[in-house]
Amino acid sequence: MRKMTEKNLRDAFSGESQASMKYLNFSMQAEKEGFPGVAKLFKAISFAERVHASNHLKALGDLKKTVENLQTAIDGETFEVEEMYPSYDAVANLQNESEAKKSIHYAVEAEKLHAKIYMDAKSQVAEGKDFDVKNVYICKVCGYTALNNAPHKCPVCGASFDFFETF
Ligand code: FE2
Ligand code: FE2
Ligand code: FE2
Repeated sequence: MRKMTEKNLRDAFSGESQASMKYLNFSMQAEKEGFPGVAKLFKAISFAERVHASNHLKALGDLKKTVENLQTAIDGETFEVEEMYPSYDAVANLQNESEAKKSIHYAVEAEKLHAKIYMDAKSQVAEGKDFDVKNVYICKVCGYTALNNAPHKCPVCGASFDFFETF
C-alpha cells in the first residue's frame, strides 16, 4: 500500500474506532435519561462505525493469524504499562488532575494483567493449543480482569462481585 493511503487508513481506523466507542457510551447515557429510541440509534450506528473500522484494519493488512495478533496485543499492553501510562500519570500528578489519575490507575492495573494473560495465551497457541479458560470476569468500574474465579471484591477499585461482567 502507498504511504499516504496507509496513513489515511490508519487515521480513519482511529476515528471510526473512537466514534464507535463514543456512540456506545452515548447509547448508555440516552438509556439512563429515558430515551430508548435514541439509545437504539446510537447503539446501531456504533456498530456501523465498528464495521468501518474493521474494514480499514483489514485493508491495512493488520488482521493477521492469532499467534501474531496475540504478539501485537502483548506489545500494545506492554507499551501502555511501561511507557504510556507512567508518563501520563506523571503529568496528571504534576497538574493535580485527580479524575485523570484515577482513570489512568484503573487502566494501568488492568493492562498489566492483560499483558500477562496474552503472554500465557500466546505460549499455548504457539504450541498449537487453545487458551484454557472457563470464564473471564471484568470489573465494570475499573476493568480489572480475572480468569475462572471472580473475586468477592475488586482488588483495584473495591467494587463488589455484582459489578463484574462474565464472558
Ligand atoms: Fe463511519
Ligand atoms: Fe488492556
Ligand atoms: Fe474494579
